[in-house]
Amino acid sequence: MIRSSRWRAAAACARLAAIASVAAAGLVTFPIAIPGASTPVAAHSGLVAVVPPDGGGGELRLVFSEPMEARFSGADLVTSEGLVVRADVGRIDPSDPHVMLVAAPASGGEGLSVAWRALSAADGHVTSGAFPSPSTGQPGAGGGPGTPTRGHSPGHLSLEALAKVMAFGGLLVALGLLLFGRFVVAPVLGAVPRGMVITQAAALGIAAIGGFLLLLVTELELAAAGTVVDPFAYVAGNRVGALLALRGAVPVGGGALTALLIRQGALGRGSEVAASIALATLILTALSGHAAAYASPVPVAVDLVHLIAASVWLGGLIGLAGMIGGPTPPSAVAVRAMIPRFSGLAVAAVALLGLTGLYAAWLETEDWTSVASPYSLVLAVKVLIVGAAFAVGAVNYLDAGRDLPIGGGLIRRITIEAGLAAVVVVAAASLTSADPPSLTRAIPIAPAGADRLVSLSVAPGRAGPDLVVVSGPVPVGATLELTPLGGEGEPAAAPEPLALGPLDLVPGAAAAQARSQTGGHVGVTTSIPPGRWDAAIVVGAAGGTIARFDFGLDGSGITEGRQAPPIPPPLLAAIGLLIGALLGAALLARGLAPPLVERRAGRASMAAFSVLGGVLGVAILTIGPRL
Ligand code: HEM
Repeated sequence: MIRSSRWRAAAACARLAAIASVAAAGLVTFPIAIPGASTPVAAHSGLVAVVPPDGGGGELRLVFSEPMEARFSGADLVTSEGLVVRADVGRIDPSDPHVMLVAAPASGGEGLSVAWRALSAADGHVTSGAFPSPSTGQPGAGGGPGTPTRGHSPGHLSLEALAKVMAFGGLLVALGLLLFGRFVVAPVLGAVPRGMVITQAAALGIAAIGGFLLLLVTELELAAAGTVVDPFAYVAGNRVGALLALRGAVPVGGGALTALLIRQGALGRGSEVAASIALATLILTALSGHAAAYASPVPVAVDLVHLIAASVWLGGLIGLAGMIGGPTPPSAVAVRAMIPRFSGLAVAAVALLGLTGLYAAWLETEDWTSVASPYSLVLAVKVLIVGAAFAVGAVNYLDAGRDLPIGGGLIRRITIEAGLAAVVVVAAASLTSADPPSLTRAIPIAPAGADRLVSLSVAPGRAGPDLVVVSGPVPVGATLELTPLGGEGEPAAAPEPLALGPLDLVPGAAAAQARSQTGGHVGVTTSIPPGRWDAAIVVGAAGGTIARFDFGLDGSGITEGRQAPPIPPPLLAAIGLLIGALLGAALLARGLAPPLVERRAGRASMAAFSVLGGVLGVAILTIGPRL
């Protein structure tokens, strides 16, 4: 039985406090408990490869995983003690923001290192590193592997995770409570309680603090990387700085306006304003996250739908748990009436969350099975917590407001689901603060023949400077022969054969990744023009070809020849979204709603799924990044 006596409310408050403590504990332990996540290797725009100039003179090309902000990225030549011998030797290539051009000494650079720093134009993360300076004439930037890319210090990482918990949590609750109020609370209680709109205003305030803290973290990171920044110049001078500042400023304004409307008694309008501001800030969030590192707009759109779906689920659960644990809890009858209404909203939100989350997971890792990187490990933990939350949610859905005596009753189960949802936000904050492995890994190319002993991968796999890694029984001194496959607008001339060398002294994440894997690896850095290529691995004086690979690439990535699973996971996500959209449309057309849910809420969320799922499914298939 659901009871609404004072002691019951007090007990529920205690449970909410427990939820907050679990979330806080998670926040502290996540970055520390995940190996590597709190160490300096957590990074974002990582150095993928270093490509020496083709001829005698010229500049080294440092290829990064994400585009960089030119004003806050650069390099110095330093001694082994870190003394700057020549400052500002690096500049961003005007034709490709992923590439930093560094004027290394033509001679006399022995003992010096190139110390670089990069501000990601996609997500504002700051990284730095160094590698021994090669002379520009030498074939291969092989002065030594140097230090791995450094990202956050442990302190900055924890601050960033805290800022994101506040920013994500505040915005998701501020948006989700509007729908919860409209579809769940008002039809049962007759109106949206004032306390709920006050919570929306407060949530925007929390999100604003989170937004400003994120800006502070970036400035601290820039200072730690040796760039002294005037905060105003930083905000005004680059896209990501402006976005981060807006993520703080927009909710401040929205929260103040909502508070004013509450004072005037315009609760409905206040709730709408708070939710609209939260939605606008979530758009800014998606535009300044990992999804923004892609040339295609689809990852940002998928991320935004993920956030909107998360707000419906999280906002509703926090709303329910808050009302039950609040000073004037609703009656047992009212709570029971609310459950099928909330389930109506949650059923579509949960499906969208899962499908968009799986797509994002593939995008950022390109491997659902590995937990080798801190990012993949945090992702696996997040999926486990989400799985537990959805399992409790499934029992609550099947309960349909009957208060079945399973797991301590309905109220306890709602509180547990809300607590797990809060921990998912902590996991999401940790995840977005870690380094997605997909952008720094070399892209495997499918062999053109039957021989599978030798494999070839290209990093970063875009037209321009690349590191080609050849793995398998291939001796040092074997050559890579690139031949254009022809076609209109394709390159006609074949470059000179390239000698494959050891990767021991090659700087960058791609070579480091190859070294960490068992088996033999050789490689060569070169500039690959856009087009379709045949790559032959040739061994011995007689010139025997031991393996062939055909691939195409352009400025945004590999266009053909990528070694992919038989059914590419993005295709699965797109098919899931399209099937869901068609199912929703069919239910709506027949005047039906999903089972066990209140009709109006169920039909509204089916309509939302049909539109969002349909648009995203088509967009992934047509203009999504090639994966
Ligand atoms: C199967 C379930 C899920 C999977 C596989 C998943 C996966 C992901 C991935 C891969 C990202 C991108 C992180 C990045 O930018 O590096 C992400 C972001 C995020 N997820 Fe999930 N997620 C799931 C469910 C949820 C749920 C239930 C919530 C609800 C609270 C949630 C909240 C978030 C948030 C707040 C972000 C940050 C988005 C941003 O920074 O723009 N996720 N998720």
